[in-house]
Amino acid sequence: MATRMLPLVLGAAAPPTGALPGGALALPQIAAGVPARGGAAPPESPPAVRAGGRLIDSYGRTIRDLRISITDRCNFRCIYCMEPDVRFAPRESLLTVPEIVRIAAIAESLGVCKVRLTGGEPTLRPDLASIIAGIRRETAVEIAMITNGSLLSREALAEWKAAGLTRLTVSIDSLRPERFARLTRSTSSPADVLAGVEAALNLNLTPLKLNAVLLRGVNDDEAADLAALARRPSVEMRFIEYMPLDSGHTWDGSTWVSAAETRAAIEARFPLAACDDDDPRSTAQTFAFADGSPGRVGFIAPVSSPFCGACSRLRVTADGKVRPCLFSTTEWDIRPLLRGGAADREIREFLIDATWTKQAGHGIRSPEFRQPARPMSAIGG
Ligand code: 5AD
Ligand code: SF4
Repeated sequence: MATRMLPLVLGAAAPPTGALPGGALALPQIAAGVPARGGAAPPESPPAVRAGGRLIDSYGRTIRDLRISITDRCNFRCIYCMEPDVRFAPRESLLTVPEIVRIAAIAESLGVCKVRLTGGEPTLRPDLASIIAGIRRETAVEIAMITNGSLLSREALAEWKAAGLTRLTVSIDSLRPERFARLTRSTSSPADVLAGVEAALNLNLTPLKLNAVLLRGVNDDEAADLAALARRPSVEMRFIEYMPLDSGHTWDGSTWVSAAETRAAIEARFPLAACDDDDPRSTAQTFAFADGSPGRVGFIAPVSSPFCGACSRLRVTADGKVRPCLFSTTEWDIRPLLRGGAADREIREFLIDATWTKQAGHGIRSPEFRQPARPMSAIGG
């Protein structure tokens, strides 16, 4: 099968809303990433796999969770994610509402039961409510969304909920306004995000997850303060280890903070008790507060304890590339099929074949590891 290099430069740079200079929080640069290789279509999977009508990979894992990035644009420029001058895919390359809905419906017919809308920042899509409503109309999957929380008005949340949104995850990396602004390189504040969180809780978009990425020397002193946000019903504060998926390629062994270290910092204030009801496919290890307070704390530890063996995810980028893994260096372009009048059967086979190419794991800490060229914002978290 022929392979080709995908273009690395994806279009014109657009300035972020209210972006601030990187200043003291800019991290040092390391090696450039590996551009994804991949042809328009993945190689054919074995006939029995195609006939099975399920998304299974060659390591025996089954895909249940589809993450669709609906835009690579963002109004933040988090220092662990996007450089201020990040280049975006041309607008016409972004999947349209019918294309997104069609992928979700076909994925459901292949066993997917949860679709998570990601970005970039998904709330920047003016047609977000139509995307949610379309998926709700065509499928019975759970519809979740991850957002930076800066644009969560009560009205918008109510509209998305009415359209069929079931769950929300909101990122919050710092509670200190100045630090938050420098970390996100935005003019938003923790208060804006927390107001959105309250509105989501009032609308019962629960259980609600909060995500934080701690960076050494930047916000690693806030673990317990952030955990305190979850000391209430239906909220889980999750700490994600910083992964080498930043557009600036600044990740190195000294900037990430391990789940164990974060947990110890939280336990110095709030002792935790392991929950034994974790979904085995979940990437988070969750804890309750030992003093009986409601709420939970979760740790997602892709660097210190990779969970690739239990992975049930497949990703579609905003410009229609199917990525079997966050760290894939191969990706498969489904857009020509979507825009070329392909039958559902062809899309189905494409997704089955792409899943079959899923790699065993990422090996972040192995010497052979090479960071993919695409940042998290282009892949979808
Ligand atoms: N490492 C870990 N988490 C990241 N996120 C974005 N980039 C990275 C990274 N390099 C997080 C965001 C968001 C979720 C989608 O992924 O903070 O919560
Ligand atoms: Fe935007 Fe999320 Fe990346 Fe921050 S982490 S720049 S909010 S996509």
